[in-house]
Amino acid sequence: MYNKFKVNSVQKKSKHKGRAIMSQVISLINEKGGVGKSTSAITIAQILAIARYKVLLIDLDPQMNTTKMFGQDGGNPGINYEHLFCEKQLRPDAVLEFTCPTEYENISILSASRELSAIVYKIYERSKEGAVELILKYNLGLLKELYDYIIVDNSPFKSYLTTCAMCASDKVLTPICVDNFSYDGLMSLIDIIDALNGKYSLSIEFAGIFMTRVAGRTTLFRQMFESYENMFGDKFLPVSIRNCIAVSESNTTFEPLLTYDKRCTAAQDYIELVNYLKLMDSQHFNSLEKYMKGGK
Ligand SMILES: Nc1ncnc2c1ncn2[C@@H]1O[C@H](COP(=O)(O)OP(=O)(O)OP(=O)(O)O)[C@@H](O)[C@H]1O
Ligand SMILES: [Mg+2]
Repeated sequence: MYNKFKVNSVQKKSKHKGRAIMSQVISLINEKGGVGKSTSAITIAQILAIARYKVLLIDLDPQMNTTKMFGQDGGNPGINYEHLFCEKQLRPDAVLEFTCPTEYENISILSASRELSAIVYKIYERSKEGAVELILKYNLGLLKELYDYIIVDNSPFKSYLTTCAMCASDKVLTPICVDNFSYDGLMSLIDIIDALNGKYSLSIEFAGIFMTRVAGRTTLFRQMFESYENMFGDKFLPVSIRNCIAVSESNTTFEPLLTYDKRCTAAQDYIELVNYLKLMDSQHFNSLEKYMKGGK
């Protein structure tokens, strides 16, 4: 059905021997700022792309950190955010036009722009007419044949954009930072997911919370780890991302982490996280391993 339209900007989703893998939308969400949402979205997307999955990275943060990383900060004037969030598109190519290939194999991007802030009011206006929160889900659903993973980086501010992203997601992942201890935001995120699942009969999975920028197994770290574990049980993931200078350096050179230094500690931790979440099958993991063993 979809091969009737021209796929210019992305290669077609790879065929997987014996089974078609289900495309997944994964959102990185935490209303706290600076906890590693963008770093995690970019790095998880890059790991999956290196493992030869087709990945679309969506930046829904008007700060545009993810967009800038891929050199798209001039914006993509072709993106009609109102169409993306408020109008059900009739054909996949209408949504595909909002995406752009990046210089990295298997990664396309749907970039952010400052206009995203203004669209929040339009979504609010439309919400009076019906379930506008589900339109992004519908529109991204049109692309699911083309991508194995759609990774969404969200803004730290609570807004309709994040609610739409949540509704569109199969999984929500939440990075937290050691110096930002708080249960409340996390509890309310879980409550919102439950409420949206109930209201719209969705099955958004809260995939879990993981710690970022961990400076060492200090007493503070251990205490925090234990309290989160007690509070969230198996939704508190046993994989943490270590504090790593290569992350900030890669942000300054605008290179995704594994391009900047694939052997750094944070890159290793993110690979462990992706494995823990079972996002890769063995065939794709082999491709990643080959890359990791290769030069530079
Ligand atoms: N593992 C890490 N080690 C060292 N620095 C890190 C690590 N993860 C993130 N950082 C740094 O922390 C800062 C915030 O990270 P990031 O931009 O990913 O957070 P964010 O949650 O997306 O922030 P915002 O809420 O503003 O969008 C950045 O300067 C980044 O370089
Ligand atoms: Mg960010």
